[in-house]
Amino acid sequence: MSGGAARYRLEPARRVAGEIAVPGDKSISHRALMLGGIAEGRTEITGFLPGEDCHATLGALRAMGVTVEQHTATRLSVHGVGTQGLSAPARVLDMGNSGTAMRLFMGLLAGQRFGATLAGDASLTRRPMERVAQPLRAMGAVIATRDGKPPVAITGAPLVAIDYELPVPSAQVKSAILLAGLYASGTTRVTEPAPTRDHTERMLRGFGVAVQRHGPVAQVEGGQRLAATRIEVPGDISSAAFFLVAACLAADGAFVLRNVGVNPTRTGVLDILRLMGADIRIENARESGGEPSADLVVRASTLRGIRIPEALVPLAIDEFPVLFIAAAAAQGTTELRGAGELRVKETDRLAVMADGLGRLGVRHELLPDGIRIEGGPIGGGTIDSGGDHRIAMAFAVASLRAAGPLEILDVANVATSFPDFVPLARAAGLAIS
Ligand code: S3P
Repeated sequence: MSGGAARYRLEPARRVAGEIAVPGDKSISHRALMLGGIAEGRTEITGFLPGEDCHATLGALRAMGVTVEQHTATRLSVHGVGTQGLSAPARVLDMGNSGTAMRLFMGLLAGQRFGATLAGDASLTRRPMERVAQPLRAMGAVIATRDGKPPVAITGAPLVAIDYELPVPSAQVKSAILLAGLYASGTTRVTEPAPTRDHTERMLRGFGVAVQRHGPVAQVEGGQRLAATRIEVPGDISSAAFFLVAACLAADGAFVLRNVGVNPTRTGVLDILRLMGADIRIENARESGGEPSADLVVRASTLRGIRIPEALVPLAIDEFPVLFIAAAAAQGTTELRGAGELRVKETDRLAVMADGLGRLGVRHELLPDGIRIEGGPIGGGTIDSGGDHRIAMAFAVASLRAAGPLEILDVANVATSFPDFVPLARAAGLAIS
C-alpha cells in the first residue's frame, strides 16, 4: 500500500471551477502492459496510469522476464517477448488490490509452459476468482483457488478453445478467456449477457490480432502473434466521475475535464447523470489507438432522483459510489436495482456506501441488489471508506453539500487508481487535506 494519507479531512466547500486532466485509464493501462509484454517488438505507452494497481501488473511482467523502461511516470517502453517468451517467476506474483491484474493474468498465464501463483492484499483475497477459474478449466487449465478466492495457483497447460456464455456481465472474465484463447487451439467464443467494457478486444486489434464481434459474441482464434504498437492512454472516465459529480453540484461556470476516454462501454455515468438532469457536453471528440476520447464540459445542474435503468449498470459499474452522492444531493428518490456485482468489488460497495450515507444522515434503504436513496440534507461526520479508493473519493465530493466537516478514514488506497486526487481536488475547489 502507498504512503497516501490515512485519512482525509474536508471542510464544506461550495464552489468548484477550472479545468483538469485526470490520470490515465486504469483498465487500458493494465492491458497496454500485458499485451505489450507478449507482443513482438517495443510498445510505446503514453498517458499510463502510475497507480499502484498498474504497478502490480508492471512488477509481475518484470518478474516474468519483460523489460519495461519507465521514461517518466506516464511514458513507458515495453520490450515484448512474444506470446511464448515469458519465463517462470521466481516468486509469488503480488497483485496488490487489483482484481483486473489478477483476473487478466489468470487468463494470460493459464496456457504458459510454466506455473505461477497470484496473491493479493486483504481486500483482493476476499474476492471471487472461480468465475475466471471455471471457464479456464473448461479450456484445460490447471488452476487452484483457496475456497474460490486468492491465492490462485496456475500450472501451465495446453488449452483448447471454448464457447462460453458469461453468467454475469464481466469484462474481466471475458478478457481472461480471450487472453487464454490466444494460447488455445481453435476459436474461443465468449457471449456476454450485456455489453461490458471492450478495451481488450479493441487493443488486441491494435496489436494486429483478428478479434471478431458478432452481436453479443466476441471471438478470437488461437495461435495469433501480437505486433508491438503505440498506445496513447486516455484519461480515466472512472476518475473523471468524481469531478463530473462535483461540477454538477457546484461548478461556477463551465468546468472542463480534458482528454477523457469516452468508449461507449464506459459512459454509463454520463447517461445516468444526464437522466438526473446534468448539463454535460462532449467537445473535441477524437479517437486514438482505437479508443475514443473527448473533453467534457460540465455546468452546475439541479439533479433529480431517477430509477437507474438496469441496462446502464455494467456501463457505469465503477461509478456508483459517486453516483450515490449525486443521488443524495438530488431532489427526490433514486433507485438502483440489478447491481449485486457491487457487493464483490474492492469492498461490498452497497453496504459500505449505505453505512457512510447513514453516518451523514442521508435517508436510504439498502436492497439485496441495489439501494434507494432519498435526496436531502447531508450532514458532517466521520466515514470509514473500508479501504476502498472509490468510496473515499466519493465522500470527498459530498463535502460540496455537507453541513459540517467530513473525516474520511482509510484512504491510502486512493493511490491504487488516482495518485494525485488530493492536489487535483484542491485545485478544483475542495477544502481537502
Ligand atoms: C474492469 C472490469 C470491471 C470493473 C473493474 C475493471 C476491467 O470488473 O469493475 O474496475 O478492467 O476489465 P468486472 O469485470 O468484475 O465487472
